[in-house]
Amino acid sequence: MGRLDSKVAVITGGGNGLGRATAVRFADEGAKVVVADLLEGPRSETVEIITAAGGQATHIGVDVTNRIDNAAMAAHAVESYGMIDIVVTAAGITHSEYVSGDKGVEAKWAIERAENADKLHQDVIDLELDAFQKVMSVNVEGTLLSIQACLPAMVDSGGSIITIASIAAKHPDAGPLPYVTSKAAVWMLTKKLARMLASVKIRVNAIGPGFIDTHMTSIIEMLPEDRLEQFYAGIPMGRKGIPDEIANTALFLASDEASYFTGEILHPDGGYFTE
Ligand SMILES: NC(=O)c1ccc[n+]([C@@H]2O[C@H](COP(=O)([O-])OP(=O)(O)OC[C@H]3O[C@@H](n4cnc5c(N)ncnc54)[C@H](O)[C@@H]3O)[C@@H](O)[C@H]2O)c1
Repeated sequence: MGRLDSKVAVITGGGNGLGRATAVRFADEGAKVVVADLLEGPRSETVEIITAAGGQATHIGVDVTNRIDNAAMAAHAVESYGMIDIVVTAAGITHSEYVSGDKGVEAKWAIERAENADKLHQDVIDLELDAFQKVMSVNVEGTLLSIQACLPAMVDSGGSIITIASIAAKHPDAGPLPYVTSKAAVWMLTKKLARMLASVKIRVNAIGPGFIDTHMTSIIEMLPEDRLEQFYAGIPMGRKGIPDEIANTALFLASDEASYFTGEILHPDGGYFTE
């Protein structure tokens, strides 16, 4: 018996990192999984991992900022597996140029940040509106649009929605300005949706991970030695998390074990942030 037997899960950002780990973990527990991502190679690889292990999954190309793509994603889930029980919104970016797995872009971005490290006010002055809006669009509007598209298939039977916020939802030092702003918005969106969807038996919770070892945090390993040591010293457990640690948190929130949780945020973060 799996903890998600007979459940259907839609996972955005399922091609890499936290989304992939969650897709694989959910399939292990019996869920049928729809892996939705911008990137074709990574999302089909997630499906290959799942099916090679005997699980059920299908993938679809989605830009979460696009309403039509989100509608096609939800329709694909219903056509493939008949329903939607669980939605995990793991698609996200840290900055406007971010492309998951592109180390060149991250290296360039890290160098630019290092050059401005002692004059942060300049980052505020120089911030382009387009760059701010891109991050808000993927992280906030994308989360809302994916949830909106899946909701009609969930309202009659109920279910569980899990957004991926961040410690950055509450901690201003956990990312660049557009990113931390977007994650605070994701957290408020989660709380508001929890209140608005409770009557149709849909629970809505967030995960606010600390620093987890994915493409997104590869930039940290580019820090000079002394800054890297300082970074790890700031995490009481002294290490990054691994994607499975977030997948297990998502599994708990998706399962009936979390039946009285809604409007909550869980922070798997090695003790980095305590309220
Ligand atoms: N890794 C961490 O330390 C960490 C910490 C806190 C929160 N998060 C959040 O977790 C989520 C997943 O991050 P990750 O670390 O797995 O990063 P990742 O880069 O490994 O994966 C993100 C995935 O989202 C996809 N994606 C990006 N934009 C998209 C779009 N417009 N439409 C569809 N898919 C899109 C990418 O293609 C990629 O597969 C993000 O929202 C991120 O902000 C990550």
